[in-house]
Amino acid sequence: MEERVALITGGTSGIGKEIVIELLQKGCKVITCYSSNDDNAESLEKEVNNENLRIIKCDVSKESQVIDMFNEIKKYYNHIDYLVNNAGIFIDNFIKDFNIDDFKTVLDVNLLGKVICTKHAYEIMSDGGSIVNISSHLGVVPCTESPAYCAAAAAIINFTKATALEYADKKIRANSICPAFTPTPLSLRGWKQEEIDQKLKETPLGRFAKPEDTAKLCLFLLSDEASFITGENIWINGGRL
Ligand SMILES: NC(=O)c1ccc[n+]([C@@H]2O[C@H](COP(=O)([O-])OP(=O)(O)OC[C@H]3O[C@@H](n4cnc5c(N)ncnc54)[C@H](OP(=O)(O)O)[C@@H]3O)[C@@H](O)[C@H]2O)c1
Repeated sequence: MEERVALITGGTSGIGKEIVIELLQKGCKVITCYSSNDDNAESLEKEVNNENLRIIKCDVSKESQVIDMFNEIKKYYNHIDYLVNNAGIFIDNFIKDFNIDDFKTVLDVNLLGKVICTKHAYEIMSDGGSIVNISSHLGVVPCTESPAYCAAAAAIINFTKATALEYADKKIRANSICPAFTPTPLSLRGWKQEEIDQKLKETPLGRFAKPEDTAKLCLFLLSDEASFITGENIWINGGRL
């Protein structure tokens, strides 16, 4: 993986941050983006202190910003080998009470953000590149109070398969991962303590997922070791079905 160029969206916190750190450890050149929290971006920069990391402020749901980001990447490296569509948000409510603008915001970031980055990655991605989309357990198993998040996560699984079919002309692979509840700012904001306790009870392996669990699977799917795996969706959930 050394010297490969990787774009990880939403790499300043949680799961994305762990993927950034592990790719840097493998010697990759890593670009990541975020949309609002400058403090997290500065802390990441200080924490890794690595000239192979570039952080760009870019809202993945805004196509013009994504185009600017890819133009910047072209200037630095002229290509990418890996794309991890990880950026996501969580807004919870019941369907009956959901503000439709909030619903659209979740779809814009969690679904269209991945679509826009995938679209603009094609031209700049080297032949044999690899895309990993971070979906969610909730993309397969629905739950109440998360209809927008569930809908976006489910759509991403089949969008990934469509990407695998289309981008195979450049031997680009595309796979998705569905992590279960992973304590991060996103999930800890979204769930009440009794709901979190219940999730733990439902997990046969008796612990929550860690960002490292998803990062390690993501690195495998990006790597040449997974060179015949494409269009696949993999759960990472401690046996929670
Ligand atoms: N945590 C879980 O339990 C869990 C489970 C399954 C799947 N996932 C998925 O894993 C992914 C990462 O989640 P996480 O839990 O690690 O969340 P997190 O800790 O809140 O991190 C989210 C990252 O995405 C960035 N981001 C948010 N909106 C963005 C936008 N419009 N454009 C660019 N960057 C944006 C955030 O930076 P800014 O805030 O500065 O924009 C941050 O860097 C998400 O796709 C989520 O759906 C999480």
